[in-house]
Amino acid sequence: MANNKQGSGNQAQWSNRFVFIMAAVGSAVGLGNIWKFPYITGENGGGAFVLVYLACIAIIGLPLMMSEIMLGRRGAKSPIGSMAVVAAQEHRHKSWVGVGIIATLAAFLILSFYSVIAGWTMPYIISAVSGDFNDIAAADSGKLFDRLLASPGELLLWHSIFMGLTVWVSAGGVRHGLERAVTKLMPALFVLLIILVGYASTTGHFSEAVRFLFTPDFSALTAEAILIALGHAFFTLSLASGAMMAYGAYLPKQVPIARTAVVIALMDTCVALLAGLAIFPIVFAHGLAPSEGPGLIFVTLPVAFGQMPGGSFFAGLFFVLLLFAAWTSSISMLESLVGYLHEKGISRAKAAIGGGLAAWLVGITTLLSLNLWSDFTPLDSMAGFEGKTLFDLYDYLTANIMMPLVALLIAIFAGWKMAPAHSAAELGGWHRWWLPMIRYISPIAVLVVFFFNLK
Ligand code: TRP
Repeated sequence: MANNKQGSGNQAQWSNRFVFIMAAVGSAVGLGNIWKFPYITGENGGGAFVLVYLACIAIIGLPLMMSEIMLGRRGAKSPIGSMAVVAAQEHRHKSWVGVGIIATLAAFLILSFYSVIAGWTMPYIISAVSGDFNDIAAADSGKLFDRLLASPGELLLWHSIFMGLTVWVSAGGVRHGLERAVTKLMPALFVLLIILVGYASTTGHFSEAVRFLFTPDFSALTAEAILIALGHAFFTLSLASGAMMAYGAYLPKQVPIARTAVVIALMDTCVALLAGLAIFPIVFAHGLAPSEGPGLIFVTLPVAFGQMPGGSFFAGLFFVLLLFAAWTSSISMLESLVGYLHEKGISRAKAAIGGGLAAWLVGITTLLSLNLWSDFTPLDSMAGFEGKTLFDLYDYLTANIMMPLVALLIAIFAGWKMAPAHSAAELGGWHRWWLPMIRYISPIAVLVVFFFNLK
């Protein structure tokens, strides 16, 4: 079809606004919402942390998301290609392309460890449906999880399968790969979450969870928690790493960016809060600690499922959907690199396989950090990096350095380097709110938190 392509970018386009929303929400909703948000909220004391997180989404995340979608659509290429195009359009220095490069690298690094974690869902699906969780004790559930992490062979198997799934969708292209995947998986995800919240509300501890999530206790809030909240706001919205720029490049011209970004951020936030409302009542009902950490989903939930009627089935379904959520995110992480390679004349399939293979290799160093290389902490001599494994370092480098840097540079470019007439043409009436936010609030907030963290 003629309207499948556009201009010199030769880019495919999303079929319509709904599909773009599903793809962007698919990117945004992932392990970050269902696995990470509940456990960092649990570790950081609940309500006050949630409030800071919501503020970060609204004040810093949203203007940035609008900027990224806008830059992507104007460039109509991969984040690297788009930054080159828009820098030229605005008569700015060529080096702005560096923003696209760092963003693409960040997404690549994140994919390498995201795939390892996403892989955990698969053995959990198998355990669930084979009844391993029936009446399992908390200690045994913990052992099951530890045994998985201690086994490089198993982790490698699931990491490889997950990366294979990601490459498979990516190789199919925007319409035949990405669109098809997200329009099936996302509605299913919403339905299941609501079912799980419904179950959680029958545990008798629902109001305790609501109180935990929504009653701010600012004495529980640390400076570090604020940094975590900001970093997570970027992560959960798939910002500062090219994904939204890459997806924005396929957005038809007539779709309103600002309103669409609000819908995406709202849906992502709802999923995170719903995940909290599904998980914490169950945690409290079993007298378990909300501050369990990364094991919250993989240790605590199986215990709860093991005691509910039809628990095996629901647990299986839960982990299938966690897998799907991670899958629609991982394809967006690969998209910046695949889009870039495709622009360089490499076929989509080869680009997806090459990019996926490289991320798979780096991912192996992540999974080894959990067992054989758990004592390999190469930056021990640097203050603040003592005891960090390679996995910890990838996480730190992307979340605390690369993403804040990209966020800052995108805010500066969109807010100061781009002609306001151009951004106004893309953002319509929202421009009057967006411009001061992206010019002053976003960069200052990012800088404050960034330097606070470095000191
Ligand atoms: N937003 C996803 C989540 O919450 C993670 C994600 C998807 C992501 N694409 C990304 C993170 C790109 C950083 C960059 O799980």
